[in-house]
Amino acid sequence: MASLAFSFTFSIFFFFAIASAQLSSTFYSSSCPNALSTIQTAVKAAVANEKRMGASLLRLHFHDCFVNGCDGSILLDDTSSFTGEKTALPNANSVRGFDVVDTIKSKVEAVCPKVVSCADILAVAARDSVVALGGPSWTVQLGRRDSTTASLSTANSDIPPPTSSLSALISAFSNKGLNTNEMVALSGSHTIGQARCTSFRARIYNETNINTSFATSLKSNCPSTGGDNNLAPLDTLTATVFDNNYYKNLVGNKGLLHSDQQLYNGGSTDSQVTSYSTSSSTFFSDFASAMVKMGSISPLTGSSGEIRTNCRKTN
Ligand code: HEM
Ligand SMILES: *[C@@H]1O[C@H](CO)[C@@H](O)[C@H](O)[C@H]1NC(C)=O
Ligand SMILES: *[C@@H]1O[C@H](CO)[C@@H](O)[C@H](O)[C@H]1NC(C)=O
Repeated sequence: MASLAFSFTFSIFFFFAIASAQLSSTFYSSSCPNALSTIQTAVKAAVANEKRMGASLLRLHFHDCFVNGCDGSILLDDTSSFTGEKTALPNANSVRGFDVVDTIKSKVEAVCPKVVSCADILAVAARDSVVALGGPSWTVQLGRRDSTTASLSTANSDIPPPTSSLSALISAFSNKGLNTNEMVALSGSHTIGQARCTSFRARIYNETNINTSFATSLKSNCPSTGGDNNLAPLDTLTATVFDNNYYKNLVGNKGLLHSDQQLYNGGSTDSQVTSYSTSSSTFFSDFASAMVKMGSISPLTGSSGEIRTNCRKTN
C-alpha cells in the first residue's frame, strides 16, 4: 500500500517534471483567456501608429532568445547594481520597442495580474507583428517564465554581427539548435525594418558583390564618415511588408548587410535563397516553423524564474 502510494506520488511528480519542461499553446486558456487578444490588439495599434514597430518587436524576440534562451532578459533595465543587455553592441542604439512592450504588459496585467510572462509577450508580439505586416501566422507556444538575470557578455558573443561570414552565421545558429535552413528562413525577417549606416557602410563602400547603382543610391545618406545612425531599409523594395522580396534582393546583389549577401554569394545556401525568391509560400511556411523553434530555445518553465510584473525589472 505504501509502495503503491509512493509509486503514485512518484508518477505525479514525474508527470509534472516532464510537463513543466514543455511549452504549450493553451498555457493561458484558463488562467488568462484574453491574454492573446489583448496582446494582438496592442500590437495592431502600435504597428498602425508606426509600421517599423512591427520589425522592432520581431527583432526583440530574436535578441531575447539568443541570449540564455527566451526569458525576457533583454527587457531588463540597467541599474546602479545590475547590468542588463541593453548596452551590448548588437542592442545599443539599435533595439527598440521597449515602451510598446510596457504598454502591452500593462494591458495584460490589467486583465490578469501576475500571470503572463514578458518572455511570452515577446513571442506573441513577434507573431502578431509579422501578421500585421502581411506575413504568415503560426501557433505560438506559451509558458515561458522571466529571468531574474541577464548577460551583457552573452549578448555580445551570441548575437551574430552584420560582418559575419556564412560559416559564422551557420555556427551562431547551430549553437542555438537551429540548422542552416532555419537560419536562412529566419534571416527573411530582414524583409522588414531598418538598419543604421554603421551596420552597412563597409558593404556599400568596399564590397564588390553589390549592385553598383544600389550601393551608389545609399551613399548620400550614409557618408564614408559621419551619419552613423542614418537609416536605410533592409528590404529596398518593400520595407514595411512581410514578403519574399528580401530574397529577390539577394539574388540581385542588393542585400543591405554583408551578412545578408553572404546567404547568396556562391555558397551552399544559394539554392534556398533562389527557391524563396520564387515562392513566398515556401518561405512563409519555413519561416513560421523556424520561429516556433527559435521561440523554444531554453525557456524557463515550471517554477524556474518568475512572472515579472514590470518587464524592465525583476520582482
Ligand atoms: C542572421 C543573422 C542576423 C544578423 C547578422 C542580423 C543583423 C541585424 C542588423 C545589423 C540589423 C540592423 C541594426 C541597426 O543597424 O540598428 C538588423 C535589423 C533587424 N533584424 Fe536582424 N540579424 C540577423 C538575424 C535576424 C533574425 C533571425 C531576426 C528575427 C527573427 C532579425 C530581425 C531583424 C529585424 C526585424 C530588424 C529591423 C529592426 C528595426 O527596424 O527596428 N534578424 N539585424
Ligand atoms: C574600406 O577598406 C579600406 C582598406 O581595407 C579601409 O581602409 C577603409 O576604412 C574601408 N572603408 C570602409 C567604409 O569600411
Ligand atoms: C542594378 O540595379 C539596377 C536598378 O534596379 C538595375 O537596373 C541593373 O540592371 C542592376 N545591375 C546589374 C548589373 O544587375
